[in-house]
Amino acid sequence: MKNADAGTDAGALERDALDLIIPHFASNAELAKGPKIFVRGEGCYVFDIHGRRYFDSFATLLTTVCGHCRPEVTRAVTEQMQRLEFFPNYVDAFTVPLIELARKLAEIAPGDLSVSFFVNSGSEANETALKMARQFHVERGERQRYKFIARRDSYHATTLGGGAVTGLKWFREYFEPLLPGALFVRAARDRDRPRGVSSKAYARLLIKEIEDLIAQEGADTIAGFIMDPLPGSNTGYPLPPEGYLRGVREICDRHGIVLILDEVQSGFGKTGRWFFCEHDGVTPDILTLGKGLTGGYIPLGVTMTTPRLAAVFRQGPGSEFRSGSTYGGHTVACAATLANIGIIEREGLVENARRMGAHCRRQLAAMRRRHPLIGAVSGIGLLLAVTLKADAEVGTWIRDWCWQNGMILRNNGNILVLAPSLIITRDQVDEMLGLIDRALTAAEHEHGLL
Ligand SMILES: Cc1ncc(COP(=O)(O)O)c(C=O)c1O
Repeated sequence: MKNADAGTDAGALERDALDLIIPHFASNAELAKGPKIFVRGEGCYVFDIHGRRYFDSFATLLTTVCGHCRPEVTRAVTEQMQRLEFFPNYVDAFTVPLIELARKLAEIAPGDLSVSFFVNSGSEANETALKMARQFHVERGERQRYKFIARRDSYHATTLGGGAVTGLKWFREYFEPLLPGALFVRAARDRDRPRGVSSKAYARLLIKEIEDLIAQEGADTIAGFIMDPLPGSNTGYPLPPEGYLRGVREICDRHGIVLILDEVQSGFGKTGRWFFCEHDGVTPDILTLGKGLTGGYIPLGVTMTTPRLAAVFRQGPGSEFRSGSTYGGHTVACAATLANIGIIEREGLVENARRMGAHCRRQLAAMRRRHPLIGAVSGIGLLLAVTLKADAEVGTWIRDWCWQNGMILRNNGNILVLAPSLIITRDQVDEMLGLIDRALTAAEHEHGLL
């Protein structure tokens, strides 16, 4: 069959997709149902090769904060392509969009984070953060500080260095031994708090665990503490207990440990603030960004730091930060990112995430009363998750039902993720939740859960 949109044969594309490409984090079970081929996007919707339209409740893997195919971004990219498509940020070379983006990031980033190192992805941003923390200590005469404290159940990168500080077994187990020196502490989830223990007391308990680990290892062996302050879709956006983030900041300050916050997923307005750490008034020494940074248009990541930390790399010949890549800070990616940030600001999308997130929470609370399947609702802003009182299979069944009925839904086992683009309107929230409502009813019948 010829497809007008793609101008080619759909059957042949599907066959070659399977034969010629290994997808990232491929699932053979899903591929066995046939590949999904996308050809067009518009706002919160995407269209597949068969001309079917889907509402994307996962914002194209959490990237498209301002929606698909915005003319403002296309214009910015086209103009940049016509002027200078690329010059590397290499040795002593810069481009104007790169500098303008660094200025913009310095303006929106919390606290004194104002210096950027540009890369190509979130993984690379975290990999760079680890290297930056280590070299920082080397430059200050503390070469023995090579270890990192990380948290169980976290996800930071697909690379071997970032994989070493990732706390989820699935991402690590085939690739060990990984980078030595990774130490793990418990994930900080307020929902795990034992009955009768206050949120603040639970935070203190978790902080004590970190303090004990530091004492055991020796503070002077630890380079950094890396964490996703709001853990991602894999674990349903669990909020930390009250005061936890401030407690971690205080420990790091006291022991000279570099605090790295990975906001690749939680940054760029999705939680109703530009960055999640702003909810707690905490500024890290290094902040890593990706995904929503570019709005999905062209790959880009950033490792941001403070003038204090960056200064050690400007102490004269030999102290330069030893990292880099050909395309990090690609000129056109910077132009796209500036356009994306422009849209977020002009359209008040951070505020929209807060308002639409609150609307979602109210609707989900009402749905929870009607649906025995809903166990818990978690998250903040437009990073939300519904945990089902059922096995993973039911989550997958609901995900497939949504696909059949025109919606892309991400599930991680029995966790359903609701993290749409920040341009979502009230009507679209109702459309998204209306489908979830119907999917839950269908699942309750199908699995005899009523
Ligand atoms: C919290 C977090 N950190 C890092 C990454 C890695 O980013 P990328 O996939 O762009 O390499 C992700 C991706 O899902 C993420 O969610």
